[in-house]
Amino acid sequence: MTAAASPFDPERQSAAAQATQFGYNNDFIGYLALPWGSGNSRHGLLCVNHEYCIEELMFPGLGAYDDDFSGATREISEIEMAAIGGSIVEVSRGADGGWTVLPASRFARRITAGGTMMRLAGPAAGHARLKTSADAGATRVIGTAANCSGGMTPWGTWLSAEEHFNHCFGSDIADDAEAEIDPALVNHPERRNYRRLGIPGRSYAWSRFERRWNIDHEALEANRFGWIVEIDPLDPNSIPVKRSALGRFNHEGANCAVNGDGRVIVYSADDNYFEYFYRFVSARAIDPASRAANSDLLDDGTLSVARFDADGGLVWLPLVFGEGPLGPDNGFHSQADIAIETRRAADLLGATPMDRPEGVAIDAKQGRLFLALTKNKRRGADRLDAVHRRAHDRWGQIVELTTPGGDHAAERFSWDILVACGDPADPAVAARWHPDIAASGWFACPDNLAVDGAGRLWVATDQGGSWAKSSGSADGLWALHTEAPRRGLAAMFFRAPVGAEVAGPCFTPDGESLFLNVQHPATDGVQDYAGFGRKSRFEDAATRWPDFDLALPPRPSIVAITRQGGGRIG
Ligand code: FEO
Ligand code: CA
Ligand code: CA
Repeated sequence: MTAAASPFDPERQSAAAQATQFGYNNDFIGYLALPWGSGNSRHGLLCVNHEYCIEELMFPGLGAYDDDFSGATREISEIEMAAIGGSIVEVSRGADGGWTVLPASRFARRITAGGTMMRLAGPAAGHARLKTSADAGATRVIGTAANCSGGMTPWGTWLSAEEHFNHCFGSDIADDAEAEIDPALVNHPERRNYRRLGIPGRSYAWSRFERRWNIDHEALEANRFGWIVEIDPLDPNSIPVKRSALGRFNHEGANCAVNGDGRVIVYSADDNYFEYFYRFVSARAIDPASRAANSDLLDDGTLSVARFDADGGLVWLPLVFGEGPLGPDNGFHSQADIAIETRRAADLLGATPMDRPEGVAIDAKQGRLFLALTKNKRRGADRLDAVHRRAHDRWGQIVELTTPGGDHAAERFSWDILVACGDPADPAVAARWHPDIAASGWFACPDNLAVDGAGRLWVATDQGGSWAKSSGSADGLWALHTEAPRRGLAAMFFRAPVGAEVAGPCFTPDGESLFLNVQHPATDGVQDYAGFGRKSRFEDAATRWPDFDLALPPRPSIVAITRQGGGRIG
């Protein structure tokens, strides 16, 4: 992928080779036109996040790695750290209409969990709670991890969201499912903070081989993850920056808008059960004439969390040190503490706990945005509210948030449910769609969203391993009308291969090309797939999409879609 990349050979993979090759499980895609500012839809950079690894598909002979890390080695862990993070890929559209990757691009770059130096900025930078044995100043971090969705800023940088970073951390102290608190946290200095975030998540063996991923040995490294990372794709030597002013949680993504007064807005959802939806408003206005003048715009501003009221109003509650309950009585001694323990601060303000909030799409023309709530099987009938009206919701919904007159910095918005997903033919599901919805038009578990030039919403779904109980069919991409008289009417556009989710729908500015990520083919719920009925591994996979070559595993990939004969998609 980079100019120095070695060919992919799964039988002889190494961390050094992986660090030059496209990473694993690509989720976000951003398109940056080249040259910068041109709006060119035939030549640009794809900024792509790599979220997590699936060892039994990546590495021959490992089998059921998940269960006990049998077969874990230092080399496997280092390959994984090199497969997570991000990729910058230069692409162009040829005269035949097809897209190709430019192999000797000067922009091509890998960002990794194991090797890319990053800077910490904003209120938590330099704070004692981020100091480690390798970084006494608390301003430098190696790597970014669990990079799920993201966003592009108006000044042409890429925001990458560190989502379930807790899974990267381990402990020598074994977990105990019966214990009230993880035994690794009983005597830990960050006990309350780590417990709220599910640290240590113990999904990789990294902590056996590198002390910083082990919370017994490096107590505070996990406070250096869970941030939004800003990367300048136009400067291959730039140092990515973790922007602590945007808070620390399971950041799903980071979607930007420029307000009428020039202030920059970043929306970010916290993807977990009963977590919250956040908004950052910059203190300063954007300088449209200078990229460099905006380079620290995201370090100073106000982070707020959403409360959805039963009257259809949405109130943004500012997370500001010293205001209301956010002071020393509750263990907050500066804005840094609020940045580090954002969830606990939001709890104290009475934010609305949501059903796994994920994708956001901003409809700039209409002054509104859409928020996908993926699902929440854990919400019982005793916890229903005006937004969350279905107990044990396996299907999710999409909420429309409307600004007053296009003011994204306003204290109050209004909200409405656009669609409540699931099968409209089953009354027990209590779905809400346009009455003309077709049997192939409905979907379940909305995740990533995009708005096209015609104002339609494009919805990528992620049902996870429970697809058989949610929709009974594979994930995909749907187009959904948002305006009457067809508001709530959707149509299927792309169906994912078995075990995969679709992520990162991304249009070129002309709307004629659509990039999609197909993530984790052959994995989620393939035990329930008739004709396969077991977990996949390298040697025995439910599909070998997209190569269909017995020597290659199924591979997460980017799909470029254009219209036959040309023209706008949809
Ligand atoms: Fe990584 Fe919430 O999806
Ligand atoms: Ca997602
Ligand atoms: Ca997902």
